[in-house]
Amino acid sequence: MLPLEVGTRVLCRWRDNKYHPVKVIERRKLPGSGANDYEYYVHYTEFNRRLDEWVKLEQLDLDSVETVVDEKVEDKVTSLKMTRHQKRKIDETHVEGHEELDAASLREHEEFTKVKNIATIELGRYEIETWYFSPFPPEYNDCVKLYFCEFCLNFMKRKEQLQRHMRKCDLKHPPGDEIYRCGTLSMFEVDGKKNKVYGQNLCYLAKLFLDHKTLYYDVDLFLFYVLCECDDRGCHMVGYFSKEKHSEESYNLACILTLPPYQRKGYGKFLIAFSYELSKKEGKVGTPERPLSDLGLLSYRGYWTRVLLDILKKHKGNISIKELSDMTAIKAEDILTTLQTLELIQYRKGQHVICADPKVLDRHLKAAGRGGLDVDVSKLIWTPYKEQS
Ligand code: ACO
Ligand code: ZN
Repeated sequence: MLPLEVGTRVLCRWRDNKYHPVKVIERRKLPGSGANDYEYYVHYTEFNRRLDEWVKLEQLDLDSVETVVDEKVEDKVTSLKMTRHQKRKIDETHVEGHEELDAASLREHEEFTKVKNIATIELGRYEIETWYFSPFPPEYNDCVKLYFCEFCLNFMKRKEQLQRHMRKCDLKHPPGDEIYRCGTLSMFEVDGKKNKVYGQNLCYLAKLFLDHKTLYYDVDLFLFYVLCECDDRGCHMVGYFSKEKHSEESYNLACILTLPPYQRKGYGKFLIAFSYELSKKEGKVGTPERPLSDLGLLSYRGYWTRVLLDILKKHKGNISIKELSDMTAIKAEDILTTLQTLELIQYRKGQHVICADPKVLDRHLKAAGRGGLDVDVSKLIWTPYKEQS
């Protein structure tokens, strides 16, 4: 039976000391060992891919090995998960010049991105464990750890290189305009066309924590909104979101990330709220690019619930989805699915009617978590993007 084949399903002992089903994604020989001594890169089928890891043979329960794997079904699922937009992105980066991405290239993409390459990064005062594969240039393939300059986001293989760089680098905040400042929080708008290298570095960094997003080499088409905590040493990146300069699909956000050391502190909801404030200034409704990750969906659900239910609580009399959309810049479909999930919508005489019992609203609001950090709109100094001729 040994070594196990890639694709094998088996039970594996996890950090909770319990056995969970896994699929073997990759295997590698242990250096200086016998012919059958391998370690295995496994995906826990019940968990998100950020928990994929290399495990030793001792962790696997060989009595539970299943060998029959239906790869075809899996391939279909993967391709369905990709939006048209993402297919286009992959298309542009991997098979230039083709309109549609065929199943083979999709599989190739999945193959290419399956095993985490960089295990940790150093960024400012944090050492951060990564979650997913990111397509760094080939010369970084043999690195387990990368050292980032926290200001220009250049990355290096060795600590000494970073130290040398820090003596020369004169940036103390993201390149671009500071469009928001409130206390120690600042937001910078970075144009991917004017700051190409920064935009690309940011994408490499972000991909380490984003799964079903393909890195866009064409950063020209995006604006990056970088959130920082500022002190006397400079502005330290907390997270960011990217936004297409022109979106046909009314996307007001492409990718969102809070760096792991800053997560669960309300910054994610701040970034989401910020993206809707920009949409309000543009006089448009917006929606995040799909698919959303598990954490992305939780954050958006929480944000939508809180914003919509706060209005419903205060509002006297009937209110329509259109009115809610005009007030919040949240796209009507997102309002509908949010209220439907909360069972606050009834369909009467061909129309959706919102039924909002105050007690029910309070219960949902409690369940939606904390509000997150507030955006003080009076501190936002911004005009919508205009192409410069
Ligand atoms: N476990 C359970 N619930 C969670 C978790 C978690 N690990 N993380 C966030 N949530 C939920 C909670 O409901 C939380 O609210 P609460 O803390 O009041 O209960 C809510 O999401 C948002 O919390 P925030 O602190 O405001 O958000 P955070 O700063 O952690 O950022 C984000 C959320 C951006 C999704 C972050 O988890 C992240 O960067 N993840 C990796 C990248 C990613 O998945 N991005 C979204 C992809 S989709 C897209 O880009 C369009
Ligand atoms: Zn630098």
